[in-house]
Amino acid sequence: MLRSKIGGIGYYVPDWVVTNDDLTKVMDTTDEWIQERTGIQERRYAPKFQETTSTLGAKAAAIAIERAGIRKEDVDFIIFATLSPDYYFPGCGVLVQRELGITSTEVGALDIRNQCSGFVYGLSIADQFVRTGMYKNVLLIGAELHSMGLDFTTRGRNVTVIFGDGAGAVVVQPTEKEGQGVLTTKLHSDGTYAEKLAFINPGCHGGYHSKKMGEEVDFGYPDAEYGEMFLTQHMIDNGMTYPNMEGQFVFKMAVQKFPEVIMEALNETGNSPADIDLLVPHQANLRISQFVQKRLRLRDDQVWNNIQKYGNTTAGSVPIALCEAWEAGKVKEGDLICLAAFGSGFTWASALLRW
Ligand code: UT7
Repeated sequence: MLRSKIGGIGYYVPDWVVTNDDLTKVMDTTDEWIQERTGIQERRYAPKFQETTSTLGAKAAAIAIERAGIRKEDVDFIIFATLSPDYYFPGCGVLVQRELGITSTEVGALDIRNQCSGFVYGLSIADQFVRTGMYKNVLLIGAELHSMGLDFTTRGRNVTVIFGDGAGAVVVQPTEKEGQGVLTTKLHSDGTYAEKLAFINPGCHGGYHSKKMGEEVDFGYPDAEYGEMFLTQHMIDNGMTYPNMEGQFVFKMAVQKFPEVIMEALNETGNSPADIDLLVPHQANLRISQFVQKRLRLRDDQVWNNIQKYGNTTAGSVPIALCEAWEAGKVKEGDLICLAAFGSGFTWASALLRW
């Protein structure tokens, strides 16, 4: 039976290191608070006017393509996962195609909007295309450039200190080697709590969802006309064009869903937590990863964490961490690798791979 495997992997983070102390210069926060609550010591920001989400993605992709032993012309499908696209439309898939110089119009490009679980969702999509024999070299990228869209005042501190910029990419290819490749992917969603972690404005909602929920929430439309509703002056004046998060609520859901979705993949394939060679969780908060590790009774060497250095890079976090672990020799042929993510939507997912 045809399975899919990760044939090449790469990541790219900008050189500019932003420490917690750097952030204390623009907002009321402390290195101690950030490290204690999140584990983050520093993150990377892309230099202004020099990078975009798709250029970060292209740099990671170029490495993945080379390591897969293919030419860029061999890529037959592109999947780009991000919540911070260069443009509202078109998506980053076509922009990365152009940036890489892939000129063939036979290539399809798909953008997905699954935030923190975007890469694992993308892997599931790539897996389906490769298993059916439709594509042979699917380029899957998870990338974020958060630093351009965060609130660098004290008002935004609960969100801003967490996020960083970066990209990871893989080439998903067919394999017929016995037991190798993606064994299963598990995808879940629950839209009930969509606004608990959201970047609501600008958008085409017109306040609809707040009314439906019966809440007296200011969604930014005191007296806007059609044509003005996508982005109102009221939204800009009142700092409503930034991401917002009910951190504790999201935290509680995350520590419940991560173990659930990991166990689902393990049970389906007849494995147990002890069989995992490496768990690469989405880097949302070091405390979340530690909770999951404890719940599954995993040893330290079975879990890869790098949030300390890069913060939360959302769709980029799983492939960056996986690539870093691979480069460190922690992902070897025959290893059982588990990827897992939870985030805005809420959406959550896991993937189990035999490397
Ligand atoms: O990747 C997508 C999924 N996202 C997540 O999984 C994130 C899940 N949530 C979290 O990681 C945590 O909830 C946060 C790290 C976001 C926040 O940590 P927390 O321990 O839940 O803090 P909190 O929001 O309950 O806030 C506690 C206090 C508040 O002050 P008061 O009301 O107790 O006086 C905040 O105003 O900490 C304050 N605070 C800060 N203080 C210094 C919030 N942000 C900061 C900050 N620096 N950056």
